Amino acid sequence: MAFLSDTLSRVKPSPTIAVSNLAAELKAAGKDVIGLGAGEPDFDTPDNIKQAGIKAITEGKTKYTAVDGIPELKAAICAKLKRDNGLSYEPAQVSVGTGGKQILYNALMATLNPGDEVVIPAPYWVSYPDMTLLAGGTPVVAEAQAQTNYKLTPEQLEAAITPKTKWFIFNSPSNPTGAGYTWDELKALTDVLLRHPHVWVMTDDMYEHLVYDGFEFCTPAQVEPQLYERTLTVNGVSKAYAMTGWRIGYAAGPKELIAAMRKIQSQSTSNPCSVSQWAAVEALNGSQDFIAPNNETFKRRRDLVVAMLNEAEGITCATPEGAFYVYPDVAGCIGKTSEGGKHISNDEDFCTALLEEKGVAAVFGAAFGLSPNFRVSYATSDENLKEACTRIQAFCAGLK
Ligand SMILES: Cc1ncc(COP(=O)(O)O)c(C=O)c1O
Repeated sequence: MAFLSDTLSRVKPSPTIAVSNLAAELKAAGKDVIGLGAGEPDFDTPDNIKQAGIKAITEGKTKYTAVDGIPELKAAICAKLKRDNGLSYEPAQVSVGTGGKQILYNALMATLNPGDEVVIPAPYWVSYPDMTLLAGGTPVVAEAQAQTNYKLTPEQLEAAITPKTKWFIFNSPSNPTGAGYTWDELKALTDVLLRHPHVWVMTDDMYEHLVYDGFEFCTPAQVEPQLYERTLTVNGVSKAYAMTGWRIGYAAGPKELIAAMRKIQSQSTSNPCSVSQWAAVEALNGSQDFIAPNNETFKRRRDLVVAMLNEAEGITCATPEGAFYVYPDVAGCIGKTSEGGKHISNDEDFCTALLEEKGVAAVFGAAFGLSPNFRVSYATSDENLKEACTRIQAFCAGLK
């Protein structure tokens, strides 16, 4: 009898976490490595939020709480969804978990039966397919193209839907491409969903506030109110409030689904950290003033990275609307050999040689389901980005 479960053999560890860990190990061993793998802002959590956490500890708010969130946080989430997205929810329609990751996982665990399909646009956030597999479902990958800046078209969505489709996972702005769907682009997708009433929408709005050049974020239930009854709107405080380590994510949707997610959480982790919940109340209810200056910094870095990468031989890099990633295409580098003698037959070879020969750590495109590309996170200092892009240019210039 095998000791490990069969389910485990179907999933792989997160490649993005693996690259970050490898870069950290090499650095600790004294190697000159620049990490472009980080999935988190390099800013500190704003002080008012930290103070709210400290206050919660001092006041002894350190005990178990309601499984899926304290009433104060649920109220703050309802207010946020109304304020930012024009969506009306009551607290019984809200679930709070240990990061957006747990929320997405709970939702899939609560709904998927063997044979159920989940449509996932590629390039995708690495966890969607593996979470689907862990929950017993079948990922159906719908590939977007570089020509549409990696946004799925209505035709591509239509083609991916079958009678077995349970969920469509939507993520804008996207990890790994940074692509953000405009209202019209999203409306074209929601029109397709209206024709398929058995398909539910799981929208991952984690990067909502990280948008540039006046881009206006929108979310499916807002664009198409008829989808409200079959949409789970997922969000969190990790990215916009630089709170990745606090581990608070949330979702709003139909009560029955929220209750089912609560059941899963009650038998796994129970409530998310009480102190973090109080800090998240402050994040959502407190001043939002720091978001604009942070975005100015991110925009400047995005422009720097896009310009420098486009100067590298064999690389084409689109300018995305949001998040803190770009997803350069390395088609022009494939089939060549690096100065160090490595034949570059795919994007994984490209990233391996780049790390070994130039000390730049980035995640290869195959991990996100669309090649030949790699993901650059620009959530690091301007100096690091300039140096990393200079090394990428040198690496590409050395390809023969
Ligand atoms: C698209 C996307 N969704 C969800 C998450 C998970 O966020 P959290 O840290 O809140 O679990 C991430 C984190 O990298 C992400 O990029």
